[in-house]
Amino acid sequence: MKVLGVSTSPRKEGNTDILVTQVLYGAESAGAETRFIRPADLELKPCNGCMACVFKRRDCVIKDRFNEFLDALRWADAVVIGTPTYILSSNSVMKNILDRLVVFGLTRELAGKSAMAVATAGVIGWEPFALEQPMTAILAAGMAPVDRFVGYGQGPGEILYDDAAMDRAYDGGVALAKGEKNFIGDKGGCPICRLNMVTYRGGKGYCPLCDISGEVDSVEGVATIIPDADSENRWSEASMKYHYEEKILPSGPWFRENFREIHSAVKEFFSEKKGVPQ
Ligand SMILES: Cc1cc2nc3c(=O)[nH]c(=O)nc-3n(C[C@H](O)[C@H](O)[C@H](O)COP(=O)(O)O)c2cc1C
Repeated sequence: MKVLGVSTSPRKEGNTDILVTQVLYGAESAGAETRFIRPADLELKPCNGCMACVFKRRDCVIKDRFNEFLDALRWADAVVIGTPTYILSSNSVMKNILDRLVVFGLTRELAGKSAMAVATAGVIGWEPFALEQPMTAILAAGMAPVDRFVGYGQGPGEILYDDAAMDRAYDGGVALAKGEKNFIGDKGGCPICRLNMVTYRGGKGYCPLCDISGEVDSVEGVATIIPDADSENRWSEASMKYHYEEKILPSGPWFRENFREIHSAVKEFFSEKKGVPQ
């Protein structure tokens, strides 16, 4: 079993690097071969929105070291993605890799690999959206989430004193090395992304991340959606196929057919903005 650790923190040997490495130590203890990668060190440019990866089913056209990250993901049988919490959410490096992985929703190249999302945060309760983006990366690519949790520490290294997080990371690594595909983490919340962020829509419980709805029950004190039988989540094979084949891919030919008209409408729109500084 080959397990890849990804830490999106810019702080080398900081808390996120430690938590992800602890997962890898657990995986190694169960016989896995491991690799560790820090996308912040690859100095990745942001996604430029060209969509060539999707429309041409090719690797990213941007000339930087992103392919090193793609190669590592392809190499792995299982992946742990770790992010620090920045302003209640994950950091910009995490969002950047999420954007640049968009094509895997279509190619399904990573589908079926086991995966874990971990986050570090300084203050308990100040991390509500930290796991949303690593979980989205996992689910959009069709990987199987095995666990997701947050560990706490402010200064770099303080996570070493969060025994619960360190133990859980190690155990998670063992599970990844053993090829676990089922979710072994906390119960409750959304049954797909496991985020504890159930909202109400049309009188029913609704998960905005996964687009499922149903009755809400309390499981171990956590609002939990019992999905309606006809509620297909947005990350299922069928939903992703529909999304790319019916919504995204047809937009390319349509745009090309109407390019001249759209282009002149855009020119006219900006020519009207005489007062806007150029
Ligand atoms: C710009 C910035 C914003 C932060 N925002 C939060 C926050 O909203 N909630 C929180 O709990 N911690 C926050 N933190 C603290 C980090 O999440 C925490 O120190 C974490 O352990 C950093 O991981 P690292 O050592 O891998 O970089 C923030 C840190 C920085 C640098």
